[in-house]
Amino acid sequence: MTAPFDDLPRTPLAHLPTPLASMPRLSEALNGPALWVKRDDCTGLGTGGNKTRKLEYLIGRAEAEGADTVITFGAVQSNHARQTAAACAARGLTCHLILARKVPWQDPTYERLGNVLLDRMFGAVLHLVEADAVNSTYQSLKSELATANRRVFVIPTGGSNGTGALGYAACALELIEQAAEAGLQLTDILHATSSAGTQSGLLAGLALAGRLEDIRVHGINVSEPADAVPALISRIGELADDALALLGSGITLDRDAIRVDSSFFGDGYGLPTPATLDALRLVGSTEGLLLDPVYSGKAMSGLIGKIRAGHFEGSESVVFLHTGGSASLPVYGEAIVR
Ligand SMILES: Cc1ncc(COP(=O)(O)O)c(C=O)c1O
Repeated sequence: MTAPFDDLPRTPLAHLPTPLASMPRLSEALNGPALWVKRDDCTGLGTGGNKTRKLEYLIGRAEAEGADTVITFGAVQSNHARQTAAACAARGLTCHLILARKVPWQDPTYERLGNVLLDRMFGAVLHLVEADAVNSTYQSLKSELATANRRVFVIPTGGSNGTGALGYAACALELIEQAAEAGLQLTDILHATSSAGTQSGLLAGLALAGRLEDIRVHGINVSEPADAVPALISRIGELADDALALLGSGITLDRDAIRVDSSFFGDGYGLPTPATLDALRLVGSTEGLLLDPVYSGKAMSGLIGKIRAGHFEGSESVVFLHTGGSASLPVYGEAIVR
């Protein structure tokens, strides 16, 4: 990790660096370019995932501010909520999760198993509410906690703000170093994008390293319907600039570097497409790698679709950033294995 990061509050939570591994059998099955996977599903905290890198800076800030309680938000099967619950458990903080019922997934275990089970095991207080009740639940919880003299730190959905994005700026630098050590000419990084923190952080890190010209980041949109995509793109730019400012870099992100592909989105957030389920099975059976139906599997369907469409012809090597998510697999099991 380089100097600009050293002055920022950070609580170590993740197993870093995560491995960078090749996927030769998947490359062969797809007749594609050299494929690699950056294993951020192995960040180690409460079954791992991308939120842990963000939480190092977010919990770092919460602790620097003397907080004793964290509130955060997500969908019922939020991986971010689960990793926040685990981080709070590890640091002795009280954790409140406001979980919105916004995915019409009918499995009877949806509100009991997967991430919800783990949230409870990590000792979080769960507030399961309808999507239109998130704000009112938050307002009343906030005043209740203020009355009880709790020192509350609020983490936005997905841990996505400039502070959270720092985790992925650091990840970009880690990946550049690993690729150089492996003698790999890194040309493309592809990952699931949703609340903008991961993509903005990666872009900020590449900008910091002066590598935006030769490394492209492809965000596969898994959460935003068509009319919300322009806002997602703007947000990626804003959060990247916020992270670059926190790092005192004096630069801003070139907006042309933001690539978001929505063609693999399907019917909605949390609803796997047939291609998502095929991707889960293909990657499982060629590489022994677990993806999830909401994020990493949908992103992988994007990678496969793009390879088949010839998108990566001429690319040296493509890194799939595995952002985790397999904790939700049990509640999608019936759809995956028929
Ligand atoms: C497994 C997984 N992958 C990817 C993402 C997307 O990351 P971001 O919200 O930073 O765009 C999330 C966010 O919830 C996630 O849980």
